Amino acid sequence: METQIITINKSEPPAAVLDKLSWAGRIIKRGGLVAFPTETVYGLGGDALNPDAAQKIYAAKGRPSDNPLIVHIAQISSLNKLVSSIPDKAKKLAQAFWPGPLTMIMNKSDIVPLQTTGGLGTVAVRMPSHPVALEFIKQAGGYVAAPSANLSGKPSPTTAKYVIQDMNGRIDMIIAADDSEGVIGLESTIVDMTTDIPAILRPGYITQAMISREIGETDIDVTIFDAASDKAPKAPGMKYRHYAPKGELALVEGEPEKVAAYINRQTQLHKERGEKTGVIATDTLVTKYNADVIKNAGSRNEPLTAANRLYTFLREFDDENVEFIYSEAFKNDGLEQAIMNRLLKAAGHKIIKV
Ligand code: TXA
Ligand code: MG
Repeated sequence: METQIITINKSEPPAAVLDKLSWAGRIIKRGGLVAFPTETVYGLGGDALNPDAAQKIYAAKGRPSDNPLIVHIAQISSLNKLVSSIPDKAKKLAQAFWPGPLTMIMNKSDIVPLQTTGGLGTVAVRMPSHPVALEFIKQAGGYVAAPSANLSGKPSPTTAKYVIQDMNGRIDMIIAADDSEGVIGLESTIVDMTTDIPAILRPGYITQAMISREIGETDIDVTIFDAASDKAPKAPGMKYRHYAPKGELALVEGEPEKVAAYINRQTQLHKERGEKTGVIATDTLVTKYNADVIKNAGSRNEPLTAANRLYTFLREFDDENVEFIYSEAFKNDGLEQAIMNRLLKAAGHKIIKV
């Protein structure tokens, strides 16, 4: 299949942008697939109400079809059509955080095909804030099912370059728009609204504290951090080993000086064996490492920088054939909790305490 790649720049006249996005929208209405930017990561979109489109998405990603898709909408009122009823707490969260990086799970209505929800009676819904995403969804008819636009098992793409690497030849169109402000770089927070006390199934930019401030008590799915838990995660996608770089990744936790000393001892040993090493560092320690490839995740006071860069780092380690990767650990709190969750998954939960 030939993939059309279209680029949208901030400086373009609105009419030209609209032209391109209405073309993209027509592809969705005809049952095709279009990758599009959001404020979290790029999505791989198809018509959420068309069962064949869902099947095509699974095929393009190489993703198991029991892993449900998120339905993206462009206005809050579109939620009515997708769910059987809207809990009051969901109304509050929509008012507070939509458009934005929050996905809510509710009981689905009959018009949502089981192919879109991976056979579940619930549906995940999100209204993104990226202006290109919002206009594209509108042009596509208002209901776009989209997982992240990576091949299954790869890190979610945060720039068009990686969407093209994974999806060129597999889908109808890629909308490239890398110059939007407010990009987060990690997938949305997912909250299950079907229980009395809503539960976070995937941490993200919208934190547990932010959610609790709006609706009171909020749980967090234990399987997110506990590798040893024998419970199945409530978000089916969270059970797959995700974001795995080709090199072996370990997280190192402890006093900063000890972390740096440990990582340097390890990288020295690898070097003696002729193995290529990499480090993900925050800025206070970044100059202390002796690994072959060192990535600066920015300041711990500004975790958005680390969130923004993390998936690019993991892909670059692959491109640079790094064999052993060490990352400083982050806190299990706020936005750092989302960073730590993705790192733990990428590392297969390998964490070394020093
Ligand atoms: O930020 C995001 O959420 C991005 C952008 C494109 O919007 N999308 C994204 O989609 O990350 P995906 O498919 O990579 O992750 C969706 C997650 C999966 O873990 C899936 O199992 C879970 O959401 N999920 C979807 N529907 C669900 C449902 N009805 N019940 C439980 N989990 C669900
Ligand atoms: Mg994904």
